[in-house]
Amino acid sequence: MQNPIQQTINYVKLTLAGAEVGHDWFHIERVYKSAKAINAIEKGDELVVLFAALLHDIADPKFNNGDEEIGPNKAETFLKSINVELAVIDHVKLIIQNMSFKNSFDQNKFTSKEMQIVQDADRLDAIGAIGIARAFTYGGFKNRVLYDPAIPPVQNHSKESYKNTTAPTINHFYEKLLLLKDMMNTETGKVIALERHHFMLSYLDQFYGEWEGKK
Ligand code: ADP
Ligand code: NI
Repeated sequence: MQNPIQQTINYVKLTLAGAEVGHDWFHIERVYKSAKAINAIEKGDELVVLFAALLHDIADPKFNNGDEEIGPNKAETFLKSINVELAVIDHVKLIIQNMSFKNSFDQNKFTSKEMQIVQDADRLDAIGAIGIARAFTYGGFKNRVLYDPAIPPVQNHSKESYKNTTAPTINHFYEKLLLLKDMMNTETGKVIALERHHFMLSYLDQFYGEWEGKK
């Protein structure tokens, strides 16, 4: 019998075969590795952290008619099928239900050390070199321009502006990516986020320089 983490890895790989690149197995693998590394310092319950990292994007509401419950329910059904303790399953389910960036606008939601660690790991994958690559991949998929000096980023960022944006991909840096360093939960996550944040700032500096033919 394989250990439950290995069983979960196999299940997630299989389930995400053919998933879009933003949330494919490699995204999960990066979040899993980051969550494990952060947890080694922050010392949460490792099993909860690893299960939640592996299962957090198992069914994207975007491709399920906006249904936010399919993912958490799928995770629950799977963890029950491999006989994971009920308290662990409940905790993992709560983490998955509460993790998305969208939900971070809602007050009074569930939190725990394990939730904070997995959320930090997921947010880290949206910034730095990989975050930049993911943003332009998303923008390309939506056929958005890279940058348009005539279209400024949305200022007062809100749930609505985040949802409705059809702006150039560079605007997404100001609407989300550059805000993430101040949204990190753990000290360990903050340190890593700051380094990736500086990388993005220097990327933008280079980008604008090249745009003007100056660099
Ligand atoms: P999450 O997985 O954190 O819930 P999303 O599903 O919103 O995030 O986005 C997946 C990836 O696509 C992230 O790296 C995110 O930065 C990027 N992305 C989302 N919306 C946009 C956008 N409007 N422009 C460019 N990139 C985007
Ligand atoms: Ni994710």
